[in-house]
Amino acid sequence: MRILLPDGDVPDSARSEVDLHAHYGADWLEPGGVRVNFVSSIDGGATANGKSKGLQTPGDNAVFGALRDLADVVVVGASTATIENYLPSRPSARRQAIRERLGFAPAPAIAVLSGSLTLNLDSALYQNPDGLAPTIVITSSTAPIARRTDIIDLAAASAGLQLLETPATEAGELDFAAAIAALRELGYQRILCEGGPRIFSAGVLARSVDELCLSVAPMLAGPGGPRIVGGQSWPESFLPQLRLTGLLVEDDALFCRYRLQ
Ligand SMILES: NC(=O)c1ccc[n+]([C@@H]2O[C@H](COP(=O)([O-])OP(=O)(O)OC[C@H]3O[C@@H](n4cnc5c(N)ncnc54)[C@H](OP(=O)(O)O)[C@@H]3O)[C@@H](O)[C@H]2O)c1
Repeated sequence: MRILLPDGDVPDSARSEVDLHAHYGADWLEPGGVRVNFVSSIDGGATANGKSKGLQTPGDNAVFGALRDLADVVVVGASTATIENYLPSRPSARRQAIRERLGFAPAPAIAVLSGSLTLNLDSALYQNPDGLAPTIVITSSTAPIARRTDIIDLAAASAGLQLLETPATEAGELDFAAAIAALRELGYQRILCEGGPRIFSAGVLARSVDELCLSVAPMLAGPGGPRIVGGQSWPESFLPQLRLTGLLVEDDALFCRYRLQ
């Protein structure tokens, strides 16, 4: 992997030996923030055959791992958690050592955002008794009481599962900004959001996203399928601007680091 940006005093020899933790840790370890990570095809597709897997490259997998190493908590929408088969957070011994060196807990918590709480509670993500870090379900005060009760009961039996309830938006939806505030109150400062598109849209509309890490895979996904932003249309005049702060390249794939203005 080669570094193209930032283009300061990087010796040529170091340009081809990128330290991903240094690259993505700069302006991030302190003070933290909300960072979103996506992979996209060149034609803007966020999936190939319904999942992100078909878009992934070795470089994207390396960036994905490094971004997780640099996170206190990984936030994900309920649909992505289900479709992409999310598991409790259990980094390898090598990754735990990296995290320790960088000042992180052994594993990032996984926070699932769900308004309806129609989650498969039998899946390993929620049955997390020996997890190194908790699975946190974040919902709103408007979630169905019966489903809340199911999760409260499950959490009472497992130290690895927590339920956080946050005030809903005026439209009765889960409030992305309130979810982030609740995580910060628990001490999670470096917050990595792994999507999906509807959650990213909610985060941008709430002006709660600081950074977008976008891997561009050298392929075309074809018509149809989601882009990295999904859900309801945005107001006409809402056109967030981004500033490129980092750029890596490997095997025709690009790894962009953008700051939302
Ligand atoms: N290319 C990539 O890097 C990448 C990354 C992630 C995902 N993906 C793909 O994206 C697809 C899933 O994305 P998605 O957009 O359908 O779902 P999503 O963003 O993962 O999750 C949407 C769900 O999140 C919950 N939610 C909580 N607060 C919300 C809010 N304020 N606004 C909207 N939803 C909120 C809702 O769950 P409830 O219904 O429970 O209320 C909603 O159904 C999958 O195909 C996945 O493979 C691709």
